[in-house]
Amino acid sequence: MSEAAHETTTVAIIGAGPAGLTLANLLRTAGLDCVVVERQSRAYVEQRQRAGVLEHRAARMFEEWGLADRVLQDSRTDGVQEFRVDGRPRFLPIADLAGGKFGRILPQQFLVQRLITAFQEDGGDLRFGCEDVTLERPGSERPVVTYRDEDGRPHEIEADYLAGCDGFHGVSRRSVPEAEQTIYAYDHGIGWFTVLADVPPPRHPMFAVSAHGFAAHFPRGPRSSRFYLQCAPGEDLDAWDDRRIFDQLRLRIGDPDLPAGAVLEKAVVDMRSFVVDPMSYGRLFLVGDAAHIITPMGGKGMNLALADAEVLAKAVRSAVRDGDPQPLRDYSKTCLDRTWSYQEFSRWMTEMLHDSGDPATSGPFRHKIARARLDRLFTSPNAGGLFSDLMAGEA
Ligand code: APR
Repeated sequence: MSEAAHETTTVAIIGAGPAGLTLANLLRTAGLDCVVVERQSRAYVEQRQRAGVLEHRAARMFEEWGLADRVLQDSRTDGVQEFRVDGRPRFLPIADLAGGKFGRILPQQFLVQRLITAFQEDGGDLRFGCEDVTLERPGSERPVVTYRDEDGRPHEIEADYLAGCDGFHGVSRRSVPEAEQTIYAYDHGIGWFTVLADVPPPRHPMFAVSAHGFAAHFPRGPRSSRFYLQCAPGEDLDAWDDRRIFDQLRLRIGDPDLPAGAVLEKAVVDMRSFVVDPMSYGRLFLVGDAAHIITPMGGKGMNLALADAEVLAKAVRSAVRDGDPQPLRDYSKTCLDRTWSYQEFSRWMTEMLHDSGDPATSGPFRHKIARARLDRLFTSPNAGGLFSDLMAGEA
């Protein structure tokens, strides 16, 4: 085997999802050196469809770092959330209740494409198709990332810091000794059947609650919609043909006229939560899904990843430029505080919007409690304000 090409950098970033690409752009903007190594091809990364709501905090972050022009263009804004309860619409003015804060619709693949373009336009070093990525001595002063490129040539990058941005199934978290981590995992016992379809978007993002089960309808572009339907965990995809999908949506949303459209993608997501504590080990920092996953309820997964990335970028900047290591020492706690707050929010919404569906599923007591919680959002400005504040994204 040929000898590995040896390089050095300030931050070696493992993974080019929303977390790694955001971190890379922020570090570059701060004038700090970094290299991104990604296992997949560029085409694969750019086409992966997932989350679609950018919260207020994340949009402000791109503005403050001078990236808004290149990242946020055409992101639709909507400050109103609809709750369709037993077919009856109720509108929560999120932006008004949250003091002017609002989320933006920005599908993840657009964000990822734009972050790749911005980073490369600025001369960033982003490597796709890296195989057998390994983290060596992550707990030491001089950690190293090794990989083989598409031609099988070995490489090693010695870095001051490693950023594990390689998602839930990545290699970074597994490089930390088990005894150094506490894992918190929770299965919510609920499945979501998710559908991307050529159906006109709703006027406002919508959650639908009824005895037929939970459903949601979100905009995903001028002619597309993303739907979610509560189902059993591990549901068989083939049990849902297009006819069943649209029949169930019409029933749950209470709109017999909801048009059917071509189904572009469908999947079953089991509602799970996972948090690792601490989010750092020596000079390795775990960012985004590598450290935590959250249910899709509330749309916080991608936003948590972006928030971690900013905390880390600022902390590395303090350490390298100002000689102050304290923000890096605080990285894990800073990120975990937000993570747990959002886990709580996601769980709050999950219970409220599923238990208030079929009383036979949740039991009559929990059903009544969930309905009271839902009602309170509209009758108490404090309750509506707290919900809206978390929904729009903390400042
Ligand atoms: N080496 C290099 N890259 C890897 C490795 C590895 N061993 N393993 C995984 N990766 C890459 C993946 O191919 C992917 O591009 O790391 C990236 C991780 O990206 P995400 O899984 O999207 O995680 P993250 O950037 O933390 O974003 C999390 O965005 O996709 C949503 O639902 C997700 O909301 C969550 C948020």
